Amino acid sequence: MHFFSTVAAAAALAGLVNADAYVAAAGPLVQVSAFKDGPTKAGMYVYVPTKKADKAPIIVAIHYCTGTAQKYFSGSNYASLADTHGFIVIYPNSPSSGGCWDVASTGSLTHGKGGDSETIVNMVKYAVTNYGGDADRVFATGSSSGAMMTNVLAGAYPDVFRAGSVYSGVPDGCFYVSGATTGMATPGWSNSCANGQNIKTAQAWGDLVRSYYPGYNGTYPKMQIFHGTADNTLDYPNLAEQMKEWSNVFGISFTKNVTGTPQSGYTQMVYGDGTKLVGYSAQGVGHTVPIHESMDLSWFGIA
Ligand SMILES: *[C@@H]1O[C@H](CO)[C@@H](O)[C@H](O)[C@H]1NC(C)=O
Ligand SMILES: *[C@@H]1O[C@H](CO)[C@@H](O)[C@H](O)[C@H]1NC(C)=O
Repeated sequence: MHFFSTVAAAAALAGLVNADAYVAAAGPLVQVSAFKDGPTKAGMYVYVPTKKADKAPIIVAIHYCTGTAQKYFSGSNYASLADTHGFIVIYPNSPSSGGCWDVASTGSLTHGKGGDSETIVNMVKYAVTNYGGDADRVFATGSSSGAMMTNVLAGAYPDVFRAGSVYSGVPDGCFYVSGATTGMATPGWSNSCANGQNIKTAQAWGDLVRSYYPGYNGTYPKMQIFHGTADNTLDYPNLAEQMKEWSNVFGISFTKNVTGTPQSGYTQMVYGDGTKLVGYSAQGVGHTVPIHESMDLSWFGIA
C-alpha cells in the first residue's frame, strides 16, 4: 500500500491548484444514477450549464488518485467556464478503493476491451444521447492518475477524442502491469514508471500506442502535456517520454522551445507546427501542476 500513501501524501500536501482564480459554477454537480453501462463501476457525474450550446462540446475532466468527481468539480474552473461557453463537463468517479484509475490492465489500455477507459467512453456516448453533446467535439483532461487516463483514452479511443490536456501524467502504456485485470479493487501501480525509469525509444512508445487500437487509420487527438521539473510522484523523465511517444504517433519532431510561455518559469516545447503536440515544462513545480483551464479551452478550440 506504499504507493497509495505516497500519492495520497502528495495530493494532500499540494491540493488542487488553479492557474486562474477559482470561480464557482452557477449550478451543482449532478450524479447520473441512470448511467449503468459500465463495464466497470466508475460513477458518472456531470455539469450541464443552464445555457448549454445546442450541440455542446464535451470535456471529460478526470480526477487524481484519492480524488473524486466532486473534488475535481470544486477544485477546477471547468464548470464555471461551462456557464460561459455552454459545454458539458463529465466528471468520472473512480470505482477503486484508492481512487486511482485503471491504466495498468491490457483491457483498459486497449480499444473495446473493457476497463475504466471503456466506461468513460460509454459516459461520453450517454452525454451525446441524453444531453445533446457533440460527438465531434469530445475532449479529455486530468491530473496525475487522471492525466494517465487522458493518455490512455487518447491511445485506445482516438476515434472518440479530438484533443487531450495532461497534467502530471505518464506515457500511455507506461503503467502497464503484467497480471492486472480490469475491475480490480486496486488497479496496478508501476514503480518503475512512476520513478521515471521506463525509458523507451520514440518508435517503441509509438508502436505501443498503435497496438492499443490495431488497424486504426484515423487521426489521433492533439495533445498538450504539462509536467513539473520537481515532480517526485511521477518523476520528470515522464515528460520527455510522453513527448517522444506522441511525436512518433504524429510523425513530427521537436521544433523549438519558447521560454516564459505561458508564464515565467514555464517552457513551451513545440513539436511540428505546434498544432498537434506541445509540452509545458514547469520549472521547480512539483506533482501538482496548476490547471490552466483557459489554455485547455483554446487547445480544444472551444474558446
Ligand atoms: C481503415 O480504413 C479502411 C478503409 O477506409 C476502413 O475500411 C477500416 O474500417 C479502417 N479501420 C479502422 C480500424 O478504422
Ligand atoms: C527544451 O526545454 C526542455 C525543458 O526545459 C529541455 O529539457 C530541453 O533540453 C530544451 N531543448 C532545447 C533544444 O533547448
